[in-house]
Amino acid sequence: MDKVNVLTHPLLQHKLTILRDVNTGVKEFREIVSEMAALMCYEATRDLPLAEIEVQTPVAPAKGYAIAGKKLAIVPILRAGLGMVEGILDLIPLAKVGHVGLFRDPETLLPVEYYCKLPTDIAERDVIVLDPMLATGGSAAAAVSLLKNRGVKHIKLMNILAAPEGIATVRKEHPDVDIYCAAVDSCLNDHGYIVPGLGDAGDRIFGTK
Ligand code: PRP
Ligand code: URA
Repeated sequence: MDKVNVLTHPLLQHKLTILRDVNTGVKEFREIVSEMAALMCYEATRDLPLAEIEVQTPVAPAKGYAIAGKKLAIVPILRAGLGMVEGILDLIPLAKVGHVGLFRDPETLLPVEYYCKLPTDIAERDVIVLDPMLATGGSAAAAVSLLKNRGVKHIKLMNILAAPEGIATVRKEHPDVDIYCAAVDSCLNDHGYIVPGLGDAGDRIFGTK
């Protein structure tokens, strides 16, 4: 599907299966979410522009490359998106981190914003929005709208698991946004949970249930 990148690397598929397993404990769950974010970051940054530079090796001058173009920011959607931050920063340590707090109203399933703190120069940066779960897509679409209202021009969305409904919402509301995920599951249940999914990502990362 146009703009939807389902990352089928064996390491990601192996780790995702451990996340799905109801018997996986909090420590392992949290570690794997972070590892998967790092692996997915490889793909999500594949199109970063390079500038040619020259370096001196111990032997001779050599042509090399440095990341060029706009600086990056990552924006986790609280809470569960926090679990993906360290994995990305391991690879892109100079990325700035903004936070958007959204929770889903359990009745309406609509996102409710409760926090927003972004780098002051966010409009000058390319942004990757992080959230392990793309269910109805309401939270992700709201986070992207918020960033666009602050002047951000280029946004990518990174989810570990997506539902077709969530992909459709983001595609409809933000057709310019590239989505990166490790799997697209069947559907949502009556409570808006992804089926078969992995349960409540925030609760499993932070051990709150
Ligand atoms: C979860 C998840 C996403 C959202 C996805 O967060 O982390 O942010 O639901 O659902 P949607 O696509 O239907 O909007 P939740 O509201 O449970 O908050 P939490 O991360 O604080 O647990
Ligand atoms: N949020 C979650 O954490 N899990 C789901 O399956 C859907 C929304």
